[in-house]
Amino acid sequence: MCGIIGYIGNRDAYSILMKGLQRLEYRGYDSAGIALINPNNELYVYKAKGKVSDLEQYVKDKDVSGTLGIAHTRWATHGEPNDVNAHPHYSQSENLALIHNGIIENYAILKAELMKHDYKFVSSTDTEVLVQFIEYLKTIHNTDLVTAVQMALSQVVGAYAIAILEKGNPDRIIAARKSSPLVVGIGNDEYFLASDATPIVEYTNQVIYLDDNEIAVIRRHEGVKIVSISNVEKSPQIQRLSLQLSELEKGGYPHFMLKEIFEQPATLRTCMSGRINLEANNVALSGIIDNKEKFLKARRIIISACGTSWHAGQVAMYLIEELCRIPVTVEYSSEFRYRKSILYKDDIVIVISQSGETADTLAAAQMAKQQGAFLYGICNVVGSSIPRLTDAGSYTHVGPEIGVASTKAFSAQITVLILMALNIAREKATISEERFLTLVKALNDIPNKMKKTLQLNDYIKDFAKIFTYARNFIYMGRGYNFPVALEGALKLKEISYIHAEGYPAAEMKHGPIALIDNEMPVVVIATNKGTYEKIASNIQEIKARKGKVIAIVTEGDQMVKSISDYCIEIPETEECLVPLVASIPLQLLAYHIAVIKGHNVDQPRNLAKSVTVE
Ligand code: M6R
Repeated sequence: MCGIIGYIGNRDAYSILMKGLQRLEYRGYDSAGIALINPNNELYVYKAKGKVSDLEQYVKDKDVSGTLGIAHTRWATHGEPNDVNAHPHYSQSENLALIHNGIIENYAILKAELMKHDYKFVSSTDTEVLVQFIEYLKTIHNTDLVTAVQMALSQVVGAYAIAILEKGNPDRIIAARKSSPLVVGIGNDEYFLASDATPIVEYTNQVIYLDDNEIAVIRRHEGVKIVSISNVEKSPQIQRLSLQLSELEKGGYPHFMLKEIFEQPATLRTCMSGRINLEANNVALSGIIDNKEKFLKARRIIISACGTSWHAGQVAMYLIEELCRIPVTVEYSSEFRYRKSILYKDDIVIVISQSGETADTLAAAQMAKQQGAFLYGICNVVGSSIPRLTDAGSYTHVGPEIGVASTKAFSAQITVLILMALNIAREKATISEERFLTLVKALNDIPNKMKKTLQLNDYIKDFAKIFTYARNFIYMGRGYNFPVALEGALKLKEISYIHAEGYPAAEMKHGPIALIDNEMPVVVIATNKGTYEKIASNIQEIKARKGKVIAIVTEGDQMVKSISDYCIEIPETEECLVPLVASIPLQLLAYHIAVIKGHNVDQPRNLAKSVTVE
């Protein structure tokens, strides 16, 4: 959460920083701010509640000159979103300005200590405490700023990516990270700094990903020096970005979310490319092949993730247990990391994360690694923190997902998990050759089925109008479709702000059925495999209580169609692949309801794309 950006070079810093903030706005969008050092070596800070566009309005008649600056877009943790709590924060003397992504957990103790030394605070943030603390250490130890930053960070508990400007020092930015991402871009005699590569790619494809406890000292005309908090100099590892600028544009769609829903047939092809070989009847995921023995010996697999990625993990539980006969548990990372979990050396822990930066999943991964489990990552953002920590893994390769509501990342996570399961099952001989080939062919055909399903867009758009009145929604599914129900409910609540819950359909009668009345829309995923007859009975139970049933059924369905109020027909596929197709109408339904209600679907309230605080 929170996006940070910095620039030092020969160009006008303001326009680069503002454009960069817009690219980073998906990380947080409740307030924004900028600090610049102008040609007279004066340090200016401007901040405004609201979006980056509000900041732009605010600075319209202000001095924004200079070739050095830092900027921030915020997702509030400490202190409500307002002008004062927005970053950058000044130190007491106003000699330092600092931006921060993360949480300083021991800020209250530090603040109390600083107050004893007459430090005054204007904001409610932990960030202001950090900048004051740095200044305090610099003053009492009469030291340079880099040393003061090192001293401060060695006493700070928590997570941070920070960038600091110092008045009177127009040729330097100091940045540091621990558990929050930070990338340095190296241009032609110019340097960039950002929470991710999206604002940098326009200018350079040479980047350095900072590691935990590293400080980057970026000097005009001199370059980047990396030192650790304990002052050990490191040699920077320059990497080449493969990101394309066009991937960061809406490409004619009104929202990134709709673009990303429609991209799914193509992103799935990319995700499967080089991993499925139809001619050779083979599936090969290098992370599995390279660690075959580990998977063959695994006593169990534990999956840890949050949100949508957790739902993909739920699909994987059904898949891996069915195809590979390995027991699987799926954990919320936030619970798993703090539970006194028992892990064995022949356990495999799979962490799933689109961003690769989710704080709870990262911490769960660290915990699993410390306990000696083999750690496998499924992530989308190349070079992010989780893939750098894991023993092995697979990228989903769907390109940047910018809409806060995850769509194409979800389908690609499931695809990678299917490829994994097929790969392991064949190695373990827990699948017949015939079944293996049937599933591989069916998986290869999923992008076509997705294309066909996307043709329902106009129908679903019309249909969405009927339900904008609703204050609650229930989603039901069984087997592989239970996680689809959970994901459908999550999509609806996060962008339409309608309360929605997902249930395993048979669980309804153990309590939730009390909620059903003639105003309750119930979305049921009732495709024609698995427990189809059983879910048809569950639908009858809902109808008997006058609930409004919206059924997702297989093309040509008769029975469920005849007892439902509304029906969406999707192409038939193998049971374990249905989530890939069935989640599309649910994504579209949530999207259109939210648009009709006039919400900002790409940046829904209170949310951020990358949850780097716990
Ligand atoms: O980047 P991650 O996959 O680790 O993110 C996990 C969740 O924060 C994320 O899936 C969230 O639930 C999405 N907003 C769902 O659409």
